[in-house]
Amino acid sequence: MAIWWAIRLIWNTIMDLLVFVATLLFLKDTKNPLKGESAGVDHEHAPKRIVHRNVSLDDIKLVKKAMNMTINDVVLGITQAGLSRYLNRSYGKIEQQNQNSSSLPKSMRIRATVLVGLRPTNGIQELADMMAKESKGRWGNCIGYVLIPFKIGLEKDPLDYVRKAKATIDRKKLSLEALCTYSIAQFVINIFGFKVGGAIAKRVLSRITMAFSNVVGPLEDISFYGHPIAFVAPTVYGHPQALTIHYQSYVNKMTIVLAVDPNVISDPHQLCADIQESLTIIKDAVLQKTLIINDVV
Ligand SMILES: *[C@@H]1O[C@H](CO)[C@@H](O)[C@H](O)[C@H]1NC(C)=O
Ligand SMILES: *[C@@H]1O[C@H](CO)[C@@H](O)[C@H](O)[C@H]1NC(C)=O
Ligand SMILES: *[C@@H]1O[C@H](CO)[C@@H](O)[C@H](O)[C@H]1NC(C)=O
Ligand SMILES: *[C@@H]1O[C@H](CO)[C@@H](O)[C@H](O)[C@H]1NC(C)=O
Repeated sequence: MAIWWAIRLIWNTIMDLLVFVATLLFLKDTKNPLKGESAGVDHEHAPKRIVHRNVSLDDIKLVKKAMNMTINDVVLGITQAGLSRYLNRSYGKIEQQNQNSSSLPKSMRIRATVLVGLRPTNGIQELADMMAKESKGRWGNCIGYVLIPFKIGLEKDPLDYVRKAKATIDRKKLSLEALCTYSIAQFVINIFGFKVGGAIAKRVLSRITMAFSNVVGPLEDISFYGHPIAFVAPTVYGHPQALTIHYQSYVNKMTIVLAVDPNVISDPHQLCADIQESLTIIKDAVLQKTLIINDVV
């Protein structure tokens, strides 16, 4: 068993690194309404629009518990469902103009870069300890890249969105991609300097549709110098991608934050609404299923 596990780990890591190198050299995501065209357009310095929505963390936990999965699985699932709804509508509009009946393209390569923290622990408390101790050694970023393929398509059973997300995440868990990309980045920066490192990162990122992040926040209400905090909404600026999705939990709330280049995505509120609606549909499917099971028993 252990040997089989090790073989799969090594195999997956090699495959992931090959895809990473291929992306650096030529492999682009499918042209789609969420991705800016890389040539000529500068998403790095374009103004970004930032919008957010609150959804109930309890709804996400309900799905998680009923399907025996993790919060990450559910969050990726509702995102894939939301993006599929949004893209279906976008392609629907194009289709009406063209007078033919294609819905979503059959196979699309849409990927997200996820930054994975490689520190063993990273909570608020550890951060406070780190700052208090003034230990210079542990300061700085310690993160690797992972490329997550997004499954875009309309599912008959809404729970399939979450099942497929879990399969993607389980596969990515069994790989040392983050560790390797972190080491490679360190190596490149040490040997060739920050300029080359930055150029490589920009090249890879500009071929990928979006950036994605999901961070667990405080479980209880906190305050900052006596001011109670109502919600937490992180975002980022300066990377060459037209769409960034952050999920940030805070007590019993999950905040979805989108940062978009409005030249590419002119209706970010619609995209937020699609993700929120997907959560509702998936939650309702779970409730209906448990209802049926209870009736039978
Ligand atoms: C999200 O929740 C916070 C805190 O309750 C509130 O201040 C904010 O306006 C909410 N955002 C939206 C878009 O409803
Ligand atoms: C839930 O998932 C875990 C790990 O994936 C597994 O060990 C456990 O048996 C599952 N429980 C149920 C009730 O399916
Ligand atoms: C997908 O698009 C078609 C045509 O534009 C529309 O009729 C259908 O309701 C859409 N499906 C979903 C789930 O949004
Ligand atoms: C739909 O029409 C457009 C333009 O006429 C064409 O490029 C596209 O291939 C068509 N799609 C299908 C599935 O026929």
